[in-house]
Amino acid sequence: MKKVVLVYSGGLDTSVCIPLMREEYGYDHVITVTVDVGQPEEDIREAAEKARTLGTEHYTVPAREEFARTYCFAAVKANASYEGYPVSTSIARPIIAAKAVEVAKSAGATAFAHGCTGKGNDQFRIEFTIRALMPDATIHAPIRERNMTRSWEIEYAKSRGIPITQSLEKIWSIDENLWGRSIEGGRLEEPDYAPPEGIFRWTRSPLDAPDAPRELKLDFEEGVPVAVDGERLSPAELIAKLNRVAGENGVGRIDIMEDRMLGLKVRENYECPAAITILAAHHALEALVLTREELRFKALVDAEWSQLAYYGLWFDPFKEDLEAFIASTQKRVTGSVWLRLYKGSLQVIGRSSPWALYSEELASFDTTTFDQRESTGMVKIFGLQARMYHALRQKHEAQR
Ligand code: ARG
Repeated sequence: MKKVVLVYSGGLDTSVCIPLMREEYGYDHVITVTVDVGQPEEDIREAAEKARTLGTEHYTVPAREEFARTYCFAAVKANASYEGYPVSTSIARPIIAAKAVEVAKSAGATAFAHGCTGKGNDQFRIEFTIRALMPDATIHAPIRERNMTRSWEIEYAKSRGIPITQSLEKIWSIDENLWGRSIEGGRLEEPDYAPPEGIFRWTRSPLDAPDAPRELKLDFEEGVPVAVDGERLSPAELIAKLNRVAGENGVGRIDIMEDRMLGLKVRENYECPAAITILAAHHALEALVLTREELRFKALVDAEWSQLAYYGLWFDPFKEDLEAFIASTQKRVTGSVWLRLYKGSLQVIGRSSPWALYSEELASFDTTTFDQRESTGMVKIFGLQARMYHALRQKHEAQR
């Protein structure tokens, strides 16, 4: 029996892959895999129902906590941002593909299919992960291979009895997981079209947000958040809670032009309330505990990490190398950060840590512990080479 494992979301692209696998690719057994990374419960249920209707062997793999702890929190430690985007869709792809590989191994399958188009980033992320974990895998990408259009897909789906949920929601192409919600397509493809209020689900408009500011305390241990307002929560619970609290206060909207891996510029809208809040707090804590040189160098490491994450190169040894440095810095990133959320704005209003490289005694205007006279020599020598250069220029100009 020829088996194929289809990475399945329940959407149009992945659903048309089911009959295609049977009719055009010659598989008599289609296994569908949906991975729960925090998308809406009803999407997961709908995917399972559609799979049943279409007669596949279906698996829903629960992975919220693993996604939160291993993927989202790695992104926190690296202050992950690609062009202002907290790489939320990007980091979900490797775990989804890795779970599909696990299902394939236990089913004795070596063939895979996915519904990615040939224009986006997901084809790179998913195929790289599958090949890294199963080098002899065969991977089919019907949408890309057949250069399919949306209208062809809809006709084909109708003719094969695939239920299409035509609702207002479907004007937009949406991808959701715990770390963020992405909205693309429709008129949003016009970079000068203002995002209509209706695209947002997780964030209130700042105009309708509560009139009182919401203050919040986040506790960190070794680079990761562990408690909100003193309440310890699991990684997935903590992220879900902050998505609610920050979202209610209108925090988390992102509207950017993004450079895809193929070089295409695309207009992207995101809602990432928890990610934005945690990243701001984490960075504020690092600024308190890391040395100036660590911070400067870590910004470079973070940028490299973010690009790898965006590319979906989760299983690249370079990522392990970068993470070795990151892990060493995060040992001291323990402490608390206070934040104020108010009508779409997010402010860090306090930070404390047992590892703070800060001494009020030294910095204050009101103490003499730091004898200012000790600075005199350093001030005189500071910029020595530049001063020599200016002296030389004056000399040469005088000779002309
Ligand atoms: N541009 C983002 C990325 O490549 C998100 C894409 C999400 N897809 C969507 N259909 N909304 O990571």
